[in-house]
Amino acid sequence: MGTYIVEGGKRLYGQVDIGGSKNAALPVLCATLMNSGKSIIHNCPDISDIYDICEILRDMGCAVEMYGDTIIIDSSKAEFSNVKNSRANKIRSSVTLMGAMAGRFKKFSLPKPGGCTIGKRPIDIHIYVLEKLGAKVYENDNEILVETMALRGSIITLPFPSVGATENAIMAASFAKGKTVICNAAKEPEIVCLQDFINSMGGNVTGAGTGTIIIDEQKKFKDTEFEIIYDRIEAGTFLCYAAACGGEIFLKNAPWQQMISTLKCFDERPWKIYTSDDGLYIKSNKKAFKCQNIVSGVYPQIPTDMQPIITALLTMATGTSIIIETVFENRFQYAKELCKMGADISFFNHVCIVNGVKRLKGAESYICDLRGGAGIILSALCADGRSKIHNSHFVERGYESIERKLRSLGAEIKLTDEM
Ligand code: UD1
Repeated sequence: MGTYIVEGGKRLYGQVDIGGSKNAALPVLCATLMNSGKSIIHNCPDISDIYDICEILRDMGCAVEMYGDTIIIDSSKAEFSNVKNSRANKIRSSVTLMGAMAGRFKKFSLPKPGGCTIGKRPIDIHIYVLEKLGAKVYENDNEILVETMALRGSIITLPFPSVGATENAIMAASFAKGKTVICNAAKEPEIVCLQDFINSMGGNVTGAGTGTIIIDEQKKFKDTEFEIIYDRIEAGTFLCYAAACGGEIFLKNAPWQQMISTLKCFDERPWKIYTSDDGLYIKSNKKAFKCQNIVSGVYPQIPTDMQPIITALLTMATGTSIIIETVFENRFQYAKELCKMGADISFFNHVCIVNGVKRLKGAESYICDLRGGAGIILSALCADGRSKIHNSHFVERGYESIERKLRSLGAEIKLTDEM
């Protein structure tokens, strides 16, 4: 738990190296359980969510070694019984272990993931897909108990294209007898990454990236070596930072092909953006820019994870912006902290109204979720004077040394131990 101290008003110049995608690495690490053998995973981000999922895998008996951004997992000795409540509750992605465990173990239990500040985050669709594949699922207040005597292929139509439930469905269906078709599947690039990983172990998954995914049974998986895709949310975050602060930065390895709806927010504004084979370049002269209306949604729409950061940018636009969050029901809590810096924001349920202001001023604020924290940092970077931003641990869950990367671009930000 630490505090960021930011002296606002510095322009950003230079290159930032975008790291591996958190949201792709976490399900891939869970999926290593599918093979009772060795997986070598490259380009893993150095963030606390990755450490936590590795600890859960270690608790289960997997051998986990880390060398820089490479993680080597040997899951041949994995047992289901040792997943600790405290760890599984800490990170939401522990629920994504269910699909791999359903294939690996005939009977298992998993602590329930907790709710979180951005919304209730139920798991009914995760349970529905396992039941459609023939598993018996029982729940009590703390645990999910699953029996998977004989998984069989099925046609599964998701009521909502849930990313996590699609991932669990793909993993469990890989062990089910016959063919499975997932309709209304999530189309996010992280699903394509999971498909590629499972196929690299010898799996039979096709269609990821579209709404229909087909999985054929695979009896045995093999050892693999695999590279995680780059993080479109980290890239989008730094893009917004440069747009807000002014300056000129190159986002090396930014997967701009997966960021089209985010990039559209930067059309016809005082920003110049160029793409190249190995990244994205933005030049920002910090002139006034117009308000705009934003709707977050499932891929390829603007990611819900970008919503807080784009909203923070729009607090300095000319005019009134309306932001509609369609994925999570409680994702504007960070806005109260932006108001402490002088932003003019009101929100109710899924809708947020932002009246642009000319200047923000440094203030003391408290992060309450990962992406909201990245939004608060944006405001502090542009504000006049000093900001103190508490609860860095939320940001450390998903951004690799954000303060170090920002400092290398010329920002004045440091992370202290202060609570
Ligand atoms: C979400 C994001 C994903 C991002 C991830 C990590 C979307 C659609 N998903 O995935 O891009 O990588 O966070 O930040 O943007 N829901 C249910 N029942 C369920 C599962 C989900 O009602 O069993 C609802 C959720 O409450 C939420 C919506 O479906 O309103 C989206 O959830 P889902 O895609 O499952 O979330 P994540 O997998 O966490």
